[in-house]
Amino acid sequence: MTLSKKTPKESQVIKTELVLPNDTNTFNNLMGGRLLHLMDICSAICAQRHSGSVVVTASVDNVSFSQPIALGEVVNMKATVTRAFKSSMEVFIEVTAEDAPGGVLKPSNSAYFTFVAVGDDNKPRPVPEVEPETEEEKAQHAGALRRRQLRLVLAGRMKPDEAKELKSIFFDE
Ligand SMILES: CC(C)(COP(=O)(O)OP(=O)(O)OC[C@H]1O[C@@H](n2cnc3c(N)ncnc32)[C@H](O)[C@@H]1OP(=O)(O)O)[C@@H](O)C(=O)NCCC(=O)NCCS
Repeated sequence: MTLSKKTPKESQVIKTELVLPNDTNTFNNLMGGRLLHLMDICSAICAQRHSGSVVVTASVDNVSFSQPIALGEVVNMKATVTRAFKSSMEVFIEVTAEDAPGGVLKPSNSAYFTFVAVGDDNKPRPVPEVEPETEEEKAQHAGALRRRQLRLVLAGRMKPDEAKELKSIFFDE
């Protein structure tokens, strides 16, 4: 059965949270682990919407916490699916902190999550392709192939020699 393609907009998730005392470290800033938890849920909902299936987190790439988010600030998250493969999907999530009630926004961090759709038998199941529309979505879609190869090589699931698109960044063919 061929699954119909879906655009990133169809599954995009925007989620907002307020930083409360239980979420913070001893400096009164949001704890990194708590932020990862929120990002994981927001991105997973996006992958679930895209796949119409239950998903599990397979990996998270490159999270760097560039700016702390303080107690009482608002956390804004936007999760967008960039590309789908056979059973896995890459989701890009951007986080900004909002100084409430002032409304000043500062970028906090971003990350790529990979989710795998699983069926009732707990086994990976096929997901629809992503049809990018905007220039930004097209660039994310193209880059997703290289990022997938890099993470699979690092996870020991792909031989470096098989990562053709990734190698093409570094070497002339
Ligand atoms: C992710 C998981 C379902 C993969 O299962 P598997 O039996 O190894 O299945 P496969 O080898 O067929 O891989 C399935 C897909 O996962 C992808 N995948 C597996 N490990 C991955 C990793 N480390 N990073 C990115 N993608 C990964 C594969 O590339 C494949 O994608 P594709 O179908 O789009 O080509 C399995 O490892 C799992 O259940 N992990 C635990 C998930 C979990 O509990 N997450 C919560 C964190 S505690």
